[in-house]
Amino acid sequence: MKYRVRSADWNADRDAIRRVRERVFVIEQAVDPELEWDGLDPECEHAVIETPDGKIVATGRLYCADGAGKIGRMAVLKGHRGNGMGAAILEFLVERARARGLSSARLNAQTHALRFYQRGGFIAEGPEFDEAGIPHRHMRREL
Ligand code: COA
Repeated sequence: MKYRVRSADWNADRDAIRRVRERVFVIEQAVDPELEWDGLDPECEHAVIETPDGKIVATGRLYCADGAGKIGRMAVLKGHRGNGMGAAILEFLVERARARGLSSARLNAQTHALRFYQRGGFIAEGPEFDEAGIPHRHMRREL
């Protein structure tokens, strides 16, 4: 099934995006809220997918600094996973990074999701490391 991903306006969509990330990262994955709400959101581009009745169920963000784009906070509500929404958000954010003329997109992948990002064209580099109590690896995709 194909989903329409749209750019989100942080001011307009903040509450709905925060609800998704609160459920996925803070409640489900027990990420410390202070780490989750890192203050970068107003500077990021955000992408979302809505259900036909207008409920945001998937999100991700692109943070740009020093000529590189960092994709993060990829979250799909549990009941909506495995339907291609995560892949659609990822591809949308990669396109946004490319449109901004960035040379690469990077992300820190939770190791359980490596295969998901590999299918999105990302390559893992370096050793596993801990972030927010969860094992991660750096990944990169040239644009
Ligand atoms: N979670 C979901 N899918 C995973 C996965 C994982 N940890 N690891 C690999 N995959 C694979 C699935 O097997 C599936 O492949 P298949 O179609 O061959 O079965 C594919 O990736 C799923 O793709 P898609 O449907 O586009 O992904 P999704 O909509 O379920 O979103 C996540 C993927 C990771 C964003 C979503 O599972 C999620 O929100 N997880 C919790 C938060 C999280 O871990 N975010 C990533 C932080 S780095």
